[in-house]
Amino acid sequence: MTRHRIAILGCGGMEKSHQQVFGDLSDRVEVVACVDPILERAQAAAEALGAPIVAAHHSEVLEHVDSVLGVLPHHVHHEVGMDALRAGKHVLMEKPLAMTEQECRDLQAEAEKQGVILMTAYPMRYNPLVVKLKELIDNHTYGQLFHVNIWTEQYTRYEPGHWALKKETLGGGQFVSHGCHYIDLMLWFCGRPAEGIHLGTTLGTPWMEGEGTSDAVIRFENGILGYHGGTWGAKGSRLKYAIHAQFSEGMVELNFRAGTLTHIHGADETLLAQNDIKKNVLGEIVEFFDAIDEGRAPHTDAEQSIQGLQVIWKLYEAEQNRTMADLRGIVTHPEFSGPPTPAEPIEFTPMVNNRTDVPQG
Ligand SMILES: NC(=O)c1ccc[n+]([C@@H]2O[C@H](COP(=O)([O-])OP(=O)(O)OC[C@H]3O[C@@H](n4cnc5c(N)ncnc54)[C@H](O)[C@@H]3O)[C@@H](O)[C@H]2O)c1
Repeated sequence: MTRHRIAILGCGGMEKSHQQVFGDLSDRVEVVACVDPILERAQAAAEALGAPIVAAHHSEVLEHVDSVLGVLPHHVHHEVGMDALRAGKHVLMEKPLAMTEQECRDLQAEAEKQGVILMTAYPMRYNPLVVKLKELIDNHTYGQLFHVNIWTEQYTRYEPGHWALKKETLGGGQFVSHGCHYIDLMLWFCGRPAEGIHLGTTLGTPWMEGEGTSDAVIRFENGILGYHGGTWGAKGSRLKYAIHAQFSEGMVELNFRAGTLTHIHGADETLLAQNDIKKNVLGEIVEFFDAIDEGRAPHTDAEQSIQGLQVIWKLYEAEQNRTMADLRGIVTHPEFSGPPTPAEPIEFTPMVNNRTDVPQG
C-alpha cells in the first residue's frame, strides 16, 4: 500500500498531541512537511517527526502531499482549509471547523466539489470509553437514558497576545472552543435537541475576553436532559473530565482521569478500563485515513460538526437575548438520531441498594 503523504499545518501546543501518534502509523503515513510562520516551531516538529520539508506558509508544501492536518488558530481555519481543498487535498481540521456557518459551508462545498475528505478532529468520539458508553445507550443495556452530565475542569491560560484570548480570533469563549467537543458528544448520545440555555462568565478567568466558564442545559426531543459545564479556570479538580449518564437501571460514570467506565447500581461494576489517552487522537487519525482509503464519509464529518456548532451559536444568541434557544430543526444528521426506540417498553424497576456507603433518600 502506498503511504499517505501529509503536511502538518500549525506546530503549536496541540500539534504535540498529534505528534505522539504518527510514530504508531509510520507504515501508513509519511509526514512530509511541517508548516508554521514561526519557523523554529515547524523545524522542531519536523525533527521530531522526521519530515523532510519545513516551511512558513502552506502554499509551499501542498504540491508535495495528498492530505493536511490543520492545527491552527481558529480564525485561519477557513483560509488555510480552502487553499488545501482547492488544491485537491484531504483535510483533517482541528475543531471548531471554522468561525461562522458560511465559512463552514464554504469548506464543505469545496470538499464535495473536489471529491475529497473533510473531517473535524473530535478525538473524544474515538475514545474507547466514550464509544462503549454510546453502545450502552443505544442497546438500552441499563434501560432508559434520561440525564447526561458532562463536565470538564481545567486550567487553561494563554500568554498575553495569544489568539485564544480574544473573541474575534477564538470565535467566542471556552464554550465554542472546548465545549464543542461535548455538545457534539451530547448530540451523538441523546439525539435531536429541542431547547436549551447557555450561561457563561468571565469571573475566574479574567484573561479571557469571552467566557472562560460555561454551563449549558439542553432538553432533547425524546425528553433526555443534557448538561455540560466547563471551565478553564479550575485550580483544583477531582475528576477533571467526567460524564455521568443516568439510566433507569443505574448510573454509568465515565471517569477520564482514572480511565474507567463504571456501572453504579448496588455494587459498582467496572465495565472498561483504559488509561492510554493517546488512543483518542490515534483513533481519530486512523479514521481519517480509513475514510480516504474507503472513499466514504468519516465518522465525524463536516455536516455533524456544523450542526453541533449551529446549536452552540443558537445558544450564544439566546444568551445575548436573555431567552431560551429554540433548537428544533437544527440537527438532522442520522448519526445524531439518539437512542433507538426500544423493542419493548422500558420498565422502571425499584432501586437496588445493597450497600451501606450510599444513603438512600
Ligand atoms: N482536540 C483538542 O483537545 C484540542 C486541544 C487544544 C487545541 N486544539 C485545537 O488545535 C488548534 C490549534 O490550537 P493550539 O492550542 O495548538 O494553538 P497554538 O497557538 O499553540 O498553535 C497554533 C500554531 O499555528 C501557527 N499558525 C498560525 N497561523 C498559521 C498558518 N496560517 N499556517 C500555519 N501555522 C499557523 C501558530 O504560529 C502556532 O504555532 C485549534 O483549532 C484548537 O482548538 C484542540
